[in-house]
Amino acid sequence: MKINARLKKIGDLVNANSFCLDVGCDHALLDIYLVSLKKDIRVIASDIKQGPLEQAKQNIKREKLEKEIILSQGDGLSTYQDGVDTVIISGMGGRNIIGICKSNLKILKKIDTLLISPNNYQEDVKRFLCKNGYYIENEEFVKDNNFIYQIIIFKKGKRKYTKKEYFFGPVFLIKKGPLFREYYLRELKSREILITLLPKNYRYKKYKTKKEIEMIKNEIQD
Ligand SMILES: C[S@@+](CC[C@H](N)C(=O)[O-])C[C@H]1O[C@@H](n2cnc3c(N)ncnc32)[C@H](O)[C@@H]1O
Repeated sequence: MKINARLKKIGDLVNANSFCLDVGCDHALLDIYLVSLKKDIRVIASDIKQGPLEQAKQNIKREKLEKEIILSQGDGLSTYQDGVDTVIISGMGGRNIIGICKSNLKILKKIDTLLISPNNYQEDVKRFLCKNGYYIENEEFVKDNNFIYQIIIFKKGKRKYTKKEYFFGPVFLIKKGPLFREYYLRELKSREILITLLPKNYRYKKYKTKKEIEMIKNEIQD
């Protein structure tokens, strides 16, 4: 089955021999890809809605993977089963991801690896998970359909991060690279536009945005 560059990159970052819970699997294309990698990865494909799960079921049946992929309907981490060591949550807003983790902290505590790809509010996700027993092991960018996505891998453990590390990502700051530059050039542009649109009484937002513009300029200058 065809898979886009974003999901392929996420799949390639999953460790061999892991037992994954894919929260919000939608069509289950990622889960089908994970099994096709032949890295002894077991998967629970879960979604809160019946519609996506029906689609997932059909896709899984077409690929004859009914025995390999467990389908489960439920909200967030409620579909956890004993032995799951990796949770994948991708293609959702950061606030939704935080909500999913917050509403089931007991289950969250049992997970060794979180592979998270939020569409927005990445900094909030990093701050929340690092407050709740995780550190950032790796960060990757992937460009798909002219959109650049962040993929963040969290592992159980504690590490302290600076404001700058939370903003850019501690691993991104070390690795940088062309997608880092392109991503933050876009972030810079959107903030420069935002500044011109903010009403006069939004003083704190203006101040914060100006500080971020300064920080981005410092980081991407040659
Ligand atoms: C935009 S799709 C992303 C699908 C896939 N993960 C990806 O990266 O392409 C989001 C999916 O998450 C599901 N979803 C949203 N909130 C959820 C929750 N609290 N628990 C489980 N699934 C959820 C939606 O039903 C939808 O199928």
